[in-house]
Amino acid sequence: MMENINIIRLREIDSTNSEAKRRAQNGEKLPMLVVSDSQSAGRGRLGRSFYSPDGTGLYMSLAYKAECDMTEAVKITSAAAVAVCLAIEELSTVKPMIKWVNDVYVEGKKVCGILTEATKAGDSTVIVLGIGVNCKTEIFPDEIKNIAGSVGIDHADVLCEKIIGHVLRFISEDEFISEYRRRSLVLGREISYTENCVTKHGVAAQISDGGALILSDGTILNSGEITVRF
Ligand code: BTN
Repeated sequence: MMENINIIRLREIDSTNSEAKRRAQNGEKLPMLVVSDSQSAGRGRLGRSFYSPDGTGLYMSLAYKAECDMTEAVKITSAAAVAVCLAIEELSTVKPMIKWVNDVYVEGKKVCGILTEATKAGDSTVIVLGIGVNCKTEIFPDEIKNIAGSVGIDHADVLCEKIIGHVLRFISEDEFISEYRRRSLVLGREISYTENCVTKHGVAAQISDGGALILSDGTILNSGEITVRF
């Protein structure tokens, strides 16, 4: 599975997504996987940071040439969430679930975040799929200690290989959305979201084949952040 991938293994880096982008822009061979033991400036969605302490998590970015348009990036993010769930389940006894759009939760705590970005390398568009999993982190900073958790997996390298295996399968097969729906924490629940700075409420009714969240009033959310009332 991993033999055709240009694997870059690092002890420390600012962000594996940033490093994968820099290397892709420098013309390094794709697909490329950048994995680091720690990140000094791990990045999350919406300008947030991702806590990435040394040796207790998996911090990885897969960079590959996009085949078509940006809907591919949205799809691969949902596929990656399913891939992470399957891989965690293969290596532990926990039951991971997905909070739309791409956070993986175990027992009410976020254990994994996914940040997909795109960059230009020559004439091609390169998708950078960044995945961070808290494997055995026990102490979190105060701001996230009530919402973050770990999966209790010792071998980040084995987890990485399994995730990549599932992601590559999903890139070629497209067979993940029913599993995504089965693992959704939000379907049937009341949610809130923000539109033009106004907080709105709705009920999550369906997830489309492309990964969009469809509310019971017909509103379609393609991206963004939602809050779920449990
Ligand atoms: C989120 O929860 O908002 C997304 C977090 C994504 C974190 C991963 S860790 C590996 C990769 N490199 C980064 O800087 N971010 C992603």
